[in-house]
Amino acid sequence: MSDQTPPVRPRRGETPSRASLRTAVVWEVLRDALDRRAKATGRDALDVLDTGGGSGNFAVPAARLGHRVTVVDPSPNALFALERRAAEAGVADRVRGVQGDVHGLFDVVERGGFDAVLFHGVLEYVEDPAEGVRNAVEALRPGGALSLLAAGLGGAVLARALAGHFTEARRALGDPAGRWGEGDPTPRRFTAEQLTQLVGDSGLEIASVHGVRVFADLVPGVLVDTEPGALEALLKLEEAAAESPAFHAVATQLHVLGEKRG
Ligand SMILES: C[S@@+](CC[C@H](N)C(=O)[O-])C[C@H]1O[C@@H](n2cnc3c(N)ncnc32)[C@H](O)[C@@H]1O
Repeated sequence: MSDQTPPVRPRRGETPSRASLRTAVVWEVLRDALDRRAKATGRDALDVLDTGGGSGNFAVPAARLGHRVTVVDPSPNALFALERRAAEAGVADRVRGVQGDVHGLFDVVERGGFDAVLFHGVLEYVEDPAEGVRNAVEALRPGGALSLLAAGLGGAVLARALAGHFTEARRALGDPAGRWGEGDPTPRRFTAEQLTQLVGDSGLEIASVHGVRVFADLVPGVLVDTEPGALEALLKLEEAAAESPAFHAVATQLHVLGEKRG
């Protein structure tokens, strides 16, 4: 995990970084959801819970937008890095790190106490994904939003195949957890249908589904690093493809935004 806090999104005329290429689509959706919630509640500073927030890739930029962020994570090392990063970004007073687990979420945070819950890159690792999503949803206030980001099955199959690992690609395709083999570091991957079902079953309305990192991980670095304007053009392509269901099937990650009825 990088120690650099990625920019929320490159400003107009600014050159995007590789990191922003990987997070821009999620930030666009999340920022819009936070803005809408702020408008609906009349509160500029929202209460955000980042479940499995790690060292603050999303928590610190969210605090920089003015929100109060609670990060629950089982890793003391990640929480230590979070504290340092929040201090460096000047938002230590708006970021609270709590050691805990999504399965015992209400041992450490309030039920129904948050305007938004981020659940990014964690569902792959939890013991019981359905319970994890249910707990994340129960942490929301009525009208609040769940931002769920998880590894996509199709993206992994495509990446293994393009790297010449055809047998692993086929194994991932047929494996119930979407794993390509014993050496696969990701315990579980999902299709867009599985994620929307998990979110829908927990009682939320599906506000949007986006494919994330459709091309970014497949394009050779030299093509984007040496060609002037290539990174910006790739970012625009990612944003355009993210909305298209056809590309959800091959995205490295999938993002689902769910909203709790008010
Ligand atoms: C890939 S990192 C993602 C970190 C951050 N959400 C992000 O998007 O950059 C996965 C994080 O999930 C945390 N984690 C693993 N199992 C968890 C669980 N059962 N409950 C909460 N967090 C968990 C890990 O400690 C780690 O910080």
